Amino acid sequence: MLLLPAFVLLLAGLCGAKPLAGKRWNDLAVKHAWVEIPRGWEFHSKPPGDHLLDMRIGLKQAKLEELISSLYEVSDPAHERYGAHLTKEEVDALVAPHPASVGAVESWLQHHGINPSDAHFRSAGGEWITIRVSVAQAERMLGTTYGVYYHAASGSSVVRTMEYSLPQELHSHVDVVTPTTYFGTLHSMRSTSFVQAHSTVGDEDSFAAEISPLAVPASCGTTITPACLRALYNTTAYVPKATATNKLGVSGYLGEFANDADLQTFFKTFRTDAVGGTFTHVQVNGGLNTQSDPGVEANLDIQYTEGISFPTPNTYYSTGGSPPFLADSFTPTNTNEPYLDWLNFILNQTTIPQTFTTSYGDDEQTVPQDYATSVCNLFAQLGARGSSVMFSSGDEGVGGGACTTNDGTNRKIFQPAFPASCPFVTSVGGTQKVNPEVAINFSGGGFSRYFAQPSYQTTAVSSFLNGLGTKFAGLFNATGRAYPDVAAQATGFQVVVGGRTESVAGTSCSSPTFAGVVALLNDFRISEGKAPLGFLNPLFYSTAKTGFNDIVSGSNPGCGQAGFTAGVGWDPVTGLGTPDFLRLQALVA
Ligand SMILES: *[C@@H]1O[C@H](CO)[C@@H](O)[C@H](O)[C@H]1NC(C)=O
Ligand SMILES: *[C@@H]1O[C@H](CO)[C@@H](O)[C@H](O)[C@H]1NC(C)=O
Ligand SMILES: *[C@@H]1O[C@H](CO)[C@@H](O)[C@H](O)[C@H]1NC(C)=O
Ligand SMILES: *[C@@H]1O[C@H](CO)[C@@H](O)[C@H](O)[C@H]1NC(C)=O
Repeated sequence: MLLLPAFVLLLAGLCGAKPLAGKRWNDLAVKHAWVEIPRGWEFHSKPPGDHLLDMRIGLKQAKLEELISSLYEVSDPAHERYGAHLTKEEVDALVAPHPASVGAVESWLQHHGINPSDAHFRSAGGEWITIRVSVAQAERMLGTTYGVYYHAASGSSVVRTMEYSLPQELHSHVDVVTPTTYFGTLHSMRSTSFVQAHSTVGDEDSFAAEISPLAVPASCGTTITPACLRALYNTTAYVPKATATNKLGVSGYLGEFANDADLQTFFKTFRTDAVGGTFTHVQVNGGLNTQSDPGVEANLDIQYTEGISFPTPNTYYSTGGSPPFLADSFTPTNTNEPYLDWLNFILNQTTIPQTFTTSYGDDEQTVPQDYATSVCNLFAQLGARGSSVMFSSGDEGVGGGACTTNDGTNRKIFQPAFPASCPFVTSVGGTQKVNPEVAINFSGGGFSRYFAQPSYQTTAVSSFLNGLGTKFAGLFNATGRAYPDVAAQATGFQVVVGGRTESVAGTSCSSPTFAGVVALLNDFRISEGKAPLGFLNPLFYSTAKTGFNDIVSGSNPGCGQAGFTAGVGWDPVTGLGTPDFLRLQALVA
């Protein structure tokens, strides 16, 4: 193992720390440690000891297994509980920690001079406790040393640690403590965007009119508009009816927000019947919405969710999370923990959208497993509440770059993406062209190294693996959760940004597109007096699997390898395929 000088300093600092008084809380054991500084980050300096952190403690949930089995029962069309989603109160009761866990954590806090009733935030179920502490105090509690780490590519700085410990006794009561070892290289799944020469976009008002609902014009093979997607996925003729109840939520991070004026320009150009349609802005944890200099990702997401689901009400959640690190002690930082900020916010609402889409992710191995598991379990809560949760599958095929492990062995492996690899989300890969659609070569896909293969996909994935034989053996984890689940178009999307039309590519295009179709299916279910679809995968891999256009050609190269190949049935390039709304509508009726 190569020890970088900064890390040696950190270790030296740790060894020099004075032992804590009190045997019960003095018996520290490592909870999570990296063997190397996460790639792309460098140690910058030591933060001042009085710098404040919002420390979030995720307590072990006493009835997690019951939550997960409830999720599967209400999401399985063959189960008698299908569609009987849980209320917020029911979920809160299932995620509550055992009183012994609360007791242990509270007396540990008291031992460190923290009054548990001063907690800055407690989730309704009580499984998350947030307290405001100084760096010096966090270092004593977690037996660690914090550093300011700098990420040159994004210019962001965070206060994090290479490892943290908890008293032995707390290991059975606490799942994760943040901010610690999750550095966050969260990025948008938008692989390219370029300003399109104006002539290729056509006349301002011609697009919506020229495409008949029944035919998919050849131009959609290179240039994607809502009219293309609505024709391709057969939603053109569907008129939403449940718009008083049904909602679609887009979650965005890294300071992105969507622009209202651009949405109107987009509608005037590409969907004239939606002119005047709006969306709701919600800012979470200091998220921005200045309306100037909007994000390409945010505009893409909202223009295509609305472009397909209009007039279904859409909400854009702008979650803060990467403010500059300021070395003053009065600005608490909990930077780059956006999933937890957003999830804690949304799960605290009584009524939540039935459909969500997110186009952000990290390489799975850069997210500590305890952290990834806690976040994935929060997505399970959304599913149990009756929401369908879509994530882009990633833009680097089976992996970008050198694709080596970060466990010190530098072994070459394909790099799965998180949260796409969480078994409780629906992961959306990418396609291109029409008649037929084919896989796009950057479509993220593969097998999780953290999460086991859920039973809903065993049959589909086994047939793929049988066909694959020993190819790529050792490069991927054949027993892991396989993704993507489904796919949609991923290139040539016409997006209005700052008044100009740009052409955008990435599975960032696919997830909002798929979510738009799901929102219409939810509209149909709700307008028939039925429950929304909720967590989709158990349905998609069983009774609804014939509702997709199977994508049978293309591949997703990466890591210097040819990647997986799309073929008949499920594959780790395009999943089950792209949605055919009319067939799916009949299957969920
Ligand atoms: C959906 O549209 C495609 C054309 O894109 C067509 O081939 C297919 O038959 C349609 N499905 C239904 C159920 O009408
Ligand atoms: C959670 O919801 C309750 C009730 O609406 C509210 O009082 C509380 O402030 C919310 N907490 C957070 C962190 O949003
Ligand atoms: C993917 O396709 C694009 C365009 O067709 C091509 O330029 C690129 O080299 C391909 N990428 C890989 C990894 O094969
Ligand atoms: C493969 O996935 C399983 C979960 O099914 C996990 O326990 C195991 O550690 C993974 N193995 C590797 C080599 O990633």
